Amino acid sequence: MAALNPVFQSESERIHRDHQEMLHELSALDLALEHMGTGSADMTDTHCVVKARAITLAMARRLPELFMREESKLFKTVADVSTELSAFVEEMKRQHIVLFTMVNSFCVALDELANASDLQAAVMNLKELGMDVSRALRHHFTAEDHELQGFL
Ligand SMILES: [Fe+2]
Repeated sequence: MAALNPVFQSESERIHRDHQEMLHELSALDLALEHMGTGSADMTDTHCVVKARAITLAMARRLPELFMREESKLFKTVADVSTELSAFVEEMKRQHIVLFTMVNSFCVALDELANASDLQAAVMNLKELGMDVSRALRHHFTAEDHELQGFL
């Protein structure tokens, strides 16, 4: 059985740990987003944007390697187990492309905030965009952990 292969086992454990770390980062991102646009003080927004930007940039740097590792070290073996799991990993691969695009679009939007003519509207837009990204990533990591729990 694949799960007994020590290389596969250590890779899947590493991916599970990465998911846990990412979920932790997403909680920090959610906190920054929650406070964005809630007060009248511009400094609060600035602090939240800086924080959200740092977390998102770090994530954008890290995601390609994680997605690649999942696809090359985990999905191939998992897909061989059943048609259902094969369909599931295909869907996860499709989501990798969508998620990476979403994260990068959010990075661009964060960088463009300085050029906004209506700062308040731009901050609210960022907040919504960020929450969409966070929700999609959380959903993805949780789905993988849940569906592949016998392997992770
Ligand atoms: Fe994934």
